[in-house]
Amino acid sequence: MEKTTTNDFPMQIQFSTKTLPQADFDSAKQVKPAIASLVALATDCLILGYSKADLNKKTPGSLLLELDAVLGGSVARAKLAGDLSGKEASQCLLRAEVSWSKAGVKAKRVLLVGLGDLSAKESLSLQSYAKLAKATLKTLSGGAIESAVWFVPSFGSSADADTVLKQVRLTAQLAGEQTYRFGVRQPAMKFKAVEYVDPFQELRFVVCKDGAKAVQVAVHQGEALVEGMNLAKDLGNLPPNVCTPTYLAKTAQGLMKKTKLKVELLTKKQMEALGMGSFLSVAQGSETPPQFIIMRHNGGKASEAPTVLVGKGITFDTGGISLKPGEAMDEMKYDMCGAASVVGTMLSTALLGLKQNVIGVIPTCENMPSGKATRPGDIVKSMSGQTIEILNTDAEGRLILCDALTYVERFKPKAVIDIATLTGACVIALGAVHSGMFSDDSHLLADLTQAGHDSLDTVWRMPLDAAYQEQLKSNFADMANIGGRPAGSVTAACFLKRFTEKYPWAHLDIAGTAWKGGAAKGSTGRPVPLLVNYLLAQS
Ligand code: BES
Ligand code: MN
Ligand code: ZN
Repeated sequence: MEKTTTNDFPMQIQFSTKTLPQADFDSAKQVKPAIASLVALATDCLILGYSKADLNKKTPGSLLLELDAVLGGSVARAKLAGDLSGKEASQCLLRAEVSWSKAGVKAKRVLLVGLGDLSAKESLSLQSYAKLAKATLKTLSGGAIESAVWFVPSFGSSADADTVLKQVRLTAQLAGEQTYRFGVRQPAMKFKAVEYVDPFQELRFVVCKDGAKAVQVAVHQGEALVEGMNLAKDLGNLPPNVCTPTYLAKTAQGLMKKTKLKVELLTKKQMEALGMGSFLSVAQGSETPPQFIIMRHNGGKASEAPTVLVGKGITFDTGGISLKPGEAMDEMKYDMCGAASVVGTMLSTALLGLKQNVIGVIPTCENMPSGKATRPGDIVKSMSGQTIEILNTDAEGRLILCDALTYVERFKPKAVIDIATLTGACVIALGAVHSGMFSDDSHLLADLTQAGHDSLDTVWRMPLDAAYQEQLKSNFADMANIGGRPAGSVTAACFLKRFTEKYPWAHLDIAGTAWKGGAAKGSTGRPVPLLVNYLLAQS
């Protein structure tokens, strides 16, 4: 298969914003624009939110009443048919009628989205908003609709600027997720990508003048986030014969052409000189050389301590000599999703021009069995000086991460977050809903939890207490690399903790959240939304 470096990542969806004059809105800044100026926008679909209260309101001034007048009774007919329930996330698609064009309506469709029991004074919770945004994007995608207009104020009439920002950013994120297809940016894949491309390609957010600034910022953030997510997904989905450590390194370096990121690679000699015996012991079974990637976003003052992201980059995990069973082993190409999320987050960070210093560090190699591979029972010396008895070569993630975690001490970080598809045990504990979060730092715990909520990319706190350290005892070295089956994801985190005492640290186990198996097999792009939201909140 021909190898291409993916250094250009066209989006599959374009976002834009449009501002309507304030005069089109009533004094209370409620959802009462001149409906005429909305329907006069040329689009395949105009999207409007309405609540149950809107439905019952017989008073003039109701959005639906005004709309009905312009649309020549289309709304009333839909109501008569029982299509307008107002139920949260319900969808009612009105299609153009002959009378519409006579009334100056340029929208080909109007999609009415139910907001539920919302009163004029309330705004939707982000969870409710996400539910209806997802339903709406599903309606828009995969059919004849190519462009749509999202009338922002109709989704929560009294929402403050911060709520609007989160809603719009999330909409862009969800639109990116809905329209993502693998293969569009990989001409080398023998894959008729064109057939899979979503016709839905353009989403325009319309807002009144007063809210324009927040919406423009949110769209910009959402756009940058989607680019990072797309890149993370592409890297995860690429086959392991293409997405090798070298490919990851070249992709990271390729970003230097597109952004102000600075990317550096360590040579194998340097890794040896640094004493990365643990990382190199994992790499030694493979014909493919390991890479150690350092990506820098210098957005803050040189004196400012950076946030450091460390991603597990096992481009294929066979288990090594402790070979995995064959079933679904192909999915172990996703064992570099931590690394992919770091590359993606660094891209988003650069595109956003965040005014802080962020460093991404990626130890990457394959975990292969061979005559040169590490044996169970081997003892290796980590960069920290601590020795490790490798009892199971399939517990390799922690072996590559520990040296990276020691390496990053030199940056005197303000916080270090490692991201890894570390344990099957985490999948058993949390499934595909939350990523496992392990930390003793109250700020990191709180900030990551909040960022998870804001991005629908949630985390769940797991324990990290000293009691679990007992399980890592070795008779022959400072520690063993496994702690037995009980609390497998916790002992893995406890192993990492031994290398992170010099800075505030959190570990994210994304084994259950980074990709989906089965018929919908594919990378989720998680936790790029979590990390980008975390960094945005730090700014
Ligand atoms: N990459 C795997 C973890 C994994 C397995 C993630 C399945 C998602 C699905 C990791 O390297 C691994 O093999 N971990 C072992 C550790 C064990 C040997 C202590 C595991 O979880 O079984
Ligand atoms: Mn493994
Ligand atoms: Zn692994």
